[in-house]
Amino acid sequence: MQDWRGAGVVVTGAARGIGAAIAERLQAEGARLVVADVLAEPLQQVADRLGAHPVAGDAASPEGVRALVDAATDHLGEIDVWVGNAGIARGEGLAGSSEQDWADSWQVNVMAHVRAAELLVPRWLERGSGRFVVTASAAGLLTILGQPTYAVTKHGAEAFAEWLAATYGHRGIAVHAICPQGVLTDMYPGPGDGELADVIGHDGALQPADVAEALVRTVAAEEFLVLPHPEVKDYFAFRGAQTDKWLRGMQRLQQRVDQTTHKLVE
Ligand SMILES: NC(=O)c1ccc[n+]([C@@H]2O[C@H](COP(=O)([O-])OP(=O)(O)OC[C@H]3O[C@@H](n4cnc5c(N)ncnc54)[C@H](O)[C@@H]3O)[C@@H](O)[C@H]2O)c1
Repeated sequence: MQDWRGAGVVVTGAARGIGAAIAERLQAEGARLVVADVLAEPLQQVADRLGAHPVAGDAASPEGVRALVDAATDHLGEIDVWVGNAGIARGEGLAGSSEQDWADSWQVNVMAHVRAAELLVPRWLERGSGRFVVTASAAGLLTILGQPTYAVTKHGAEAFAEWLAATYGHRGIAVHAICPQGVLTDMYPGPGDGELADVIGHDGALQPADVAEALVRTVAAEEFLVLPHPEVKDYFAFRGAQTDKWLRGMQRLQQRVDQTTHKLVE
């Protein structure tokens, strides 16, 4: 059972959106926080508001992750919980996703987690405890239309979290994968900008604070999947049980997007 009071917590991608909401919620639970982001100025504002220690920089590259872990260890003494939340969505379709889009998505959405775990897990195994949280996405369980870079790398993020949980769970390392659908942040397309979101509607989109609430609830229950949209559990079960029927449903959805936008995905 996680006692947040006094726990040393790092949250990446914390300058805004879901990361800032998680940092705020964990601070309210009594955690001591290090917040990280590439956006130095908004990060400083979040840090000032929460009394957190900011580390500006790239939380995905090998050097950036090492610098963050070192700075956080210096500040906190021990890192008890790592929330790898930084993520990016790049490109559109096949023709609209460049080699750079694929490479950047792989670095931020997958390798950032691998690099953090490489540095944290040895110490956590030594002391017999640690908690690793990955912000993946419902796209990592169900796939998403539109952006193949996002669908693939979020599956990778979820798979890595699953691998960590399966491999080290019995040795004191707890792992969680946060898998929301739409959340109202800068990443989420507003009405009129997002073809898929416009077709399926914006009603189900949550606030970042709802994701933070789901994280705290799910950690208390010691469950792996953090599902701020509970219906994702049913979709995931349906996809597993009736994969072809699920795919036909996705194809119908893509057709509706094609008809709404009057263009085909290249
Ligand atoms: N918004 C949604 O609908 C939604 C749904 C499911 C999952 N997610 C995931 O939630 C996480 C947070 O996204 P958000 O919606 O708050 O979007 P956001 O764009 O508002 O926040 C992402 C933050 O990550 C930071 N970041 C990106 N690359 C970084 C790097 N290399 N190093 C350090 N910081 C970096 C950005 O500067 C930004 O502050 C992401 O992993 C995203 O994929 C979002």
